[in-house]
Amino acid sequence: MNKHILIVPGDGIGQEVTAVGKKVLDKIATKFGHTFTYDEALIGHVAIEATGDPLPAETLQKMRNSDAVLFGAVGHPKYDNDPSAKVRPEQGLLKMRKELGLYANLRPIKLFDELLSASSIKPEILKGADILFFRELTGDIYFGEKGRKNNGDTAFDVAEYSRYEVERIGRKAFEAARTRKKKLCSVDKANVLETSRLWREVIQKLALEYPDVEVEYQFVDATAMLLIKDPCRFDVVVTANLFGDILTDEASQIAGSMGMLASASIGDGTGVYEPIHGSAHDITGKGLANPLASILSAALLLDISFGLKAESDAVINAVDQVLKAGYRTRDIADKQTPADKILGTEAMGEAVLKFL
Ligand code: IPM
Ligand code: MG
Repeated sequence: MNKHILIVPGDGIGQEVTAVGKKVLDKIATKFGHTFTYDEALIGHVAIEATGDPLPAETLQKMRNSDAVLFGAVGHPKYDNDPSAKVRPEQGLLKMRKELGLYANLRPIKLFDELLSASSIKPEILKGADILFFRELTGDIYFGEKGRKNNGDTAFDVAEYSRYEVERIGRKAFEAARTRKKKLCSVDKANVLETSRLWREVIQKLALEYPDVEVEYQFVDATAMLLIKDPCRFDVVVTANLFGDILTDEASQIAGSMGMLASASIGDGTGVYEPIHGSAHDITGKGLANPLASILSAALLLDISFGLKAESDAVINAVDQVLKAGYRTRDIADKQTPADKILGTEAMGEAVLKFL
């Protein structure tokens, strides 16, 4: 198979972890006889520094012309405490999602057994947890009208959803549930929000087309509690953009660390694959970042964009083997981990390559 992959490292540890993800893709190409070609492009703070634009037109064009994008992270601390900044790294990410029509964000939360003790949740509660989140990614309060009024003393962000937007993400979630335990949980705040009432109405109607899938409806606040109390009760979860953002950071603790979680953003065109963690400037350049989320993002890319299931499984299996052999990055190590098993970013990448 011949494929062209765009590497978009972005900011902070994005650079270090995508470099490792790319090596894994390269290894897969050699091992399975594929030809992957690569290009790189800028986004986020590094793009602002180079061009003044967090998503340069050239980057967007390259994305459209690629078969898939391996993405790092965006963000820079200098903007976090500066609410007045007009140009921000995150704008690049949001514009990319909108321009590429990436309306479905898949975030699989699966705990590797070896990491049971890395989580702050009790192992007996966690064991067997396996959740697939479908977060809607191009609507909601993220993309509605926003602004100030009353001389800047009042601010507003409008949350908006159309029937069409809810239906297409809902359908993806129902289809996925069919291939899993056939359970879908739709999360909203329909006791308060009109957008949530439309959301629920659309999902209820869709449910009639999927009688084999058992559907439950939960409010977002209750879901936040249930994820920690009983994560094993969930199979597929579908929710709106903002709720999905918050719930998946919470759910990352079920997988032991943010450093383990990969995501796929898919929709009308090129798919984008990225860790759910951010740019982590506190550890940038130190070689400490966990590259496993980027490696697992590469696995999602192989499976979803290229249909290469065996190749994808080989990557996941190699990660499993590395963990079974006791290797850890700092974020997933515990008191029992011997010092010589705690690896940096590159060494962890090499360990995965060796098992591949
Ligand atoms: C995510 C991130 C982004 C989001 C930020 C960086 C804009 O938190 O992908 O979850 O809120 O969507
Ligand atoms: Mg987030």
